[in-house]
This record gives sequence, structure tokens and C-alpha cells, in this order.
Amino acid sequence: MLQTYEANEWDNHFPDSTQKQAISALEEGQILYFPQLDFSLLAEEQQFLSPDYVDTKAKHVSYLSNHGKLWGVRHLTDQQHIQLQSMLERFARSSYRLIQNMLTPYTAHLIMGRTSFRPVEVAHRKTSYRKDDTRLHVDAFPSAPNQGMRILRVFSNINPHGKDRIWRIGESFEKVAEQFIPKINAPKLGTRALLRFLRITKSYRTLYDHYMLRMHHAMKADNRYQQQASQREVRFPSGSTWVVQTDHVSHASMQGQYALEQTFYLPVKAMFREELAPLSVLERMLQMKLS
Ligand code: SIN
Ligand code: FE
Repeated sequence: MLQTYEANEWDNHFPDSTQKQAISALEEGQILYFPQLDFSLLAEEQQFLSPDYVDTKAKHVSYLSNHGKLWGVRHLTDQQHIQLQSMLERFARSSYRLIQNMLTPYTAHLIMGRTSFRPVEVAHRKTSYRKDDTRLHVDAFPSAPNQGMRILRVFSNINPHGKDRIWRIGESFEKVAEQFIPKINAPKLGTRALLRFLRITKSYRTLYDHYMLRMHHAMKADNRYQQQASQREVRFPSGSTWVVQTDHVSHASMQGQYALEQTFYLPVKAMFREELAPLSVLERMLQMKLS
């Protein structure tokens, strides 16, 4: 479930054999775990270790490195805005370097997604069931269809009080899909074009996105499944980093405060074993093209 690496620097170079093994593990649904890879904050960034700077309507602070845009914030002076933005930019660049050094063959295909800062205690967050990440799920975003691309995420626990970030990891993607996909109806004619026309979705919601989103909702809605699915608790200590494809790995975030996260998108064609992609699994199961 976890593949552990002793690196303690974001610029650490990994030999080809380690990289090959890491890519296989990741594509099979394992988590690459770096217990010693700490993201340290600068003195002036320590002030942001508080949930007060997150807009109450947002789950966390978000940042788009390519656009230099920060949102989901409140109560920040102009100077603090610049400082927080630069902290997220530094994490975005560190994560990119880690992927570049560890998963070099992916680099040419990698698309940079959002960076997030998560200073709100996970266990205390009140949300609708669909937004409730304490329920097991695979990631699928309602307004941002990824059209089959892989979701690759780097997380770092930066809790200053030494508190773990506690996840549950569920069963394999194939097992999840076997249980939920047969119960999901095909989309109604015209709905996805309308969503795009109204700009509710940022790009066209493909058939793949439809099935992934419905599966995400169905998993979270099923209380019995949440309790009875085979699962394991995993604790990520403060000062550790982990890399995971959250479209493939069933996960739930149970407890923890103060994490940084970087999302990347990876086209399926960049994978060593394309047949392991959720897109390929669902196409085999439904016997049709979904992209
Ligand atoms: C999630 O992707 O479900 C949330 C992960 C986390 O914030 O620990
Ligand atoms: Fe998630």
C-alpha cells in the first residue's frame, strides 16, 4: 500500500531503477511515501498556521501557479497576500521538482493543476455528503472534468504541533468500480452539452467524467459501504510527504490540520501501463469508448 523512500530533499535524484519501481507502484495504486521529506516554512510564513485566513465558504486556500492567482482567502493585508502566494508557489515548485526527479518519464506530459493550503481541521468540517472527504471516494471534480487524464497529487503534512494526518485507504479501483458502475445510468441526452454551454463545467463532461462523478457520489452516499468496505487506516506524520493518484486510490481524510497539496494532471498515454488507468478499466467494464 505504501512504498517508502528515505529522501529528505525535494531535489533528491532517484536512480533509474528506483524510478521504474516507483512508477509501477504508483500505476498499480500504491502511495509513494516520504517520511523524511519536510516542507519547512519561512519565519514570515509561520503566521499562516491558522484557519482564520480561509474564506468560510471554501474548504481551503487555492492557488494557480500558471496564473499567479490566489483565492479562498480572507483577512489578509496586501503584504500577507503576497507572502502566502509565495509560500504556495514554493510548494508548487518543490512538488514539481520531486515529480521531475522521481517520475522523470512523466515530466514532459505533466499539466500543472491547483496548489492548496489546508489549515482547517478535517474532523470538524461540516459539509454536504458529496463534499465530505471523510467518506471513502475516488476523486472526480464536478466543475472541472479531466476527460480521462490521471489526477496525481503531492501532499505534505506541515502540522506544527506534531499531529498526524489520518487517512483511510479502501479497496482497489477495480473492486470499487465492479460494485458501483453497474448501478449508474447513462447520462441524459443533451445534459452535458448544456452544462458546458452554461459554463457550469470548465470543459466538456465526457462519458468518463459522468461515470467517475456518479461513482464518487454513490460511494459517499452509501453508509453501509463506508463501514463495511475493506479498508485500512494510514497515518502521515507531521513532516512527511506522499504522492498518490487519487482518481484510482479510494481514500478518505479523517483527521489532521495544516497540509499543502499540489495537483498535476497526466494524460493516460504517458503511463507505462495504460491498461491500469481508470479510463481503461471503465471502458473494459462498460464495453465502450468513454473519451
Ligand atoms: C481528499 O482528497 O479527499 C482530501 C485529502 C486531504 O485533505 O487529506
Ligand atoms: Fe479526495
